[in-house]
Amino acid sequence: MKKLFVLIITICLTHSVSSGQDPTGSQPSGESAQIKQSADIIIPAGTKNTDLIYRVNGKDGRLYQAYFGAKLGNTDELKQMRDAGHPAYATFGTDNLFEPSIRMTHNDGNPSLELKYISHKIEKPDPDITITNILLKDPVYPVEVTLHIKSYSEEDVIEQWVEIVQNETKPVTIYNYASSMLHFDATQYWLTQFHGDWAEEMKVQENELTSGIKILDTKLGTRAHMYQTPVFFLSLNGKSTENDGELIAGTLGWSGNFQFVFEVDEKGSLRVISGINPFASEYSLLPGKPFKTPSFIFTYSNQGKGRASRNLHHWATNFGIMDGNKPRLTLLNNWETTYFSFNEPKLAGLLDDTKKMGLDLFLLDDGWFGNKYPRNNDRAGLGDWQENKTKLPDGLGYLVKEADSKGVKFGIWIEPEMVNPKSELYENHPDWILKLPNRPENYYRNQLVLDLTNPEVQEFVYNVVDGMLTKYPGIAFIKWDCNRMMTNAYSVYLKDKQSHLYIDYVNNLYDILYKLRQKYPHFPIMLCSGGGGRVDYGALRYFTEFWASDDTDPLERVYIQWGYSFFFPSFAVCNHITSWGKQSLKFKTDVAMMGKMGYDIPVNELTEKELKFSQEAITNYKRLSDVIWHGDLYRLISPYEENRAVLMYINSSKTKAVLFAYTLNSRFGENFNRVRLQGLDPAKTYKIQEINVSAEGQRFGPSESGRSYTGDYLMKIGLNAGTGLPLSSAVYEITSF
Ligand code: GLA
Repeated sequence: MKKLFVLIITICLTHSVSSGQDPTGSQPSGESAQIKQSADIIIPAGTKNTDLIYRVNGKDGRLYQAYFGAKLGNTDELKQMRDAGHPAYATFGTDNLFEPSIRMTHNDGNPSLELKYISHKIEKPDPDITITNILLKDPVYPVEVTLHIKSYSEEDVIEQWVEIVQNETKPVTIYNYASSMLHFDATQYWLTQFHGDWAEEMKVQENELTSGIKILDTKLGTRAHMYQTPVFFLSLNGKSTENDGELIAGTLGWSGNFQFVFEVDEKGSLRVISGINPFASEYSLLPGKPFKTPSFIFTYSNQGKGRASRNLHHWATNFGIMDGNKPRLTLLNNWETTYFSFNEPKLAGLLDDTKKMGLDLFLLDDGWFGNKYPRNNDRAGLGDWQENKTKLPDGLGYLVKEADSKGVKFGIWIEPEMVNPKSELYENHPDWILKLPNRPENYYRNQLVLDLTNPEVQEFVYNVVDGMLTKYPGIAFIKWDCNRMMTNAYSVYLKDKQSHLYIDYVNNLYDILYKLRQKYPHFPIMLCSGGGGRVDYGALRYFTEFWASDDTDPLERVYIQWGYSFFFPSFAVCNHITSWGKQSLKFKTDVAMMGKMGYDIPVNELTEKELKFSQEAITNYKRLSDVIWHGDLYRLISPYEENRAVLMYINSSKTKAVLFAYTLNSRFGENFNRVRLQGLDPAKTYKIQEINVSAEGQRFGPSESGRSYTGDYLMKIGLNAGTGLPLSSAVYEITSF
């Protein structure tokens, strides 16, 4: 992390609030706060193209959101606005009439909170980054709330989180503790949400928000995003398109229960409250111990969803995802080829196949562990992380060595947060497992969740990884899975604080990952959760990539990957070519190539032509992966709007682009018009070269492959991208000269 300079500026409202609180802190003194009127303070917290501006109202000492949107010419004019704006972080119990950001009950039973501005501090840890910390205090109770706004200027992305500290003499209960509250005044609000289930992640739905409350949330605890991913678009004043319209893209960096509340009030103003889901999660706050919320990450665009996605991709590459700027490993996985049934000779063969294909790494999936209860199916062995002696008599060391001798790397699957009842772990540590003491155990995929609130369990999970990497330093990759949600959950360790479970679980998971990252800072780890059940920027700080879905049928994948592309950069979205789906190998390959490509097929069953095609495709991918991973994404034709999907990536110097075109279906007489490209330099001339030309497949339409055109032509007239044949695809390499 580069630390160029740190600039700290502190500004205080010098004569703002005298609290008059009881020194014990347990009771208010009865003397109400004295607010002396002072001048309004404007606090800007924007980015290169965005202004997020707060205003302290000198009359009441409260903090308001004065403006959020496109950059203003003169922010001083806001002082002349007749109303102060909307509450920056609305409290409950005094005069707020709508959904609050924060609600607490003090230890004397008083259920109210009032927050007044005290001071703000600006930090500049990097020329690109500004952190604005705004301190608010209750005038009567010793409670402090600090709003943190981290602005990434170049990326046009803002991160918001909150810290709450109480200094009463006893614990205080907080019931709501949002990360962010934002307000909008528009004529219409269109919400785009992303929901799904196992094997059908990231389905897109868009609806207009009407008066009242709409909530997007999850209550699953772990594998928390199985039904709803913590991301949304909010379009203002009408629907937005790829290139037009005003909107924000928002996401919460939290791997547990999240909640987004959208409330349209009687005047048509919208408040958006984002944070941990407070459902069944009242939290007892000890005196002096800060409660820090996860980050709400968002970007504003007045050039449609495409710009919003690119902003998030840039931010994720530079800041949001572990080693976002570094290359990824291509791999061969054995899950769908062997499932649980393999042995050393079979795996040695797969190591050869990895090499033969030209891939970097072989990833050994589930089924390699457990002896008393061998992991031969998903009913036993989970938790017993010792090599199964029948399948791997020579241990993982043998496979690491074999891989090395064949010139490929070796990676391994683990699911360290979980346990099968049929395991030694379950027998030896019943107290380490989340389960209600007086009700039947409730299984999902025949397994239960370990109690990560317990420090002994944290140590165990840490050691699953650290123990393995210490014993076999040659292991080069991990796939970290998490295959179930919480049900019938009860923590022996938490005793009377059961409502802390959902929050402590996630924070302790992060502590484990943080500790692992101290020791293994650049080790690649894939985040998996029965497919894409845990995809968020809280986890991705520690992971290099994620498994998008167990559904690898390429037709479905076009939609799933399209959905992820709105919020996550392509290098993080793992797409494998598998036996799912009856489409051609070319179609499968072209679909996987738009993200982080991998394989999970029986290589030995490929025909000679197919093998050659795959080897060439991998060579193409390696040559182009930097453009695909780090180039700007333009979604040109949506599969939700036409029978095809077309997208392209282009590098920052606009010298190299890759275009993917997928024809999903075609009706009689359907006209697949030329596609106009975007993001090119109009003055440059580009050569169009079709790549991944299939062994059998000839084109079924006109192709410009081999010809050259100016960027101007390509953006105004376009290309005949792809063919009219259902389930066909084309990939074009576009190079300026
Ligand atoms: C989950 C993952 C799969 C595979 C299996 C192994 O379902 O999503 O990719 O690893 O577990 O049991």
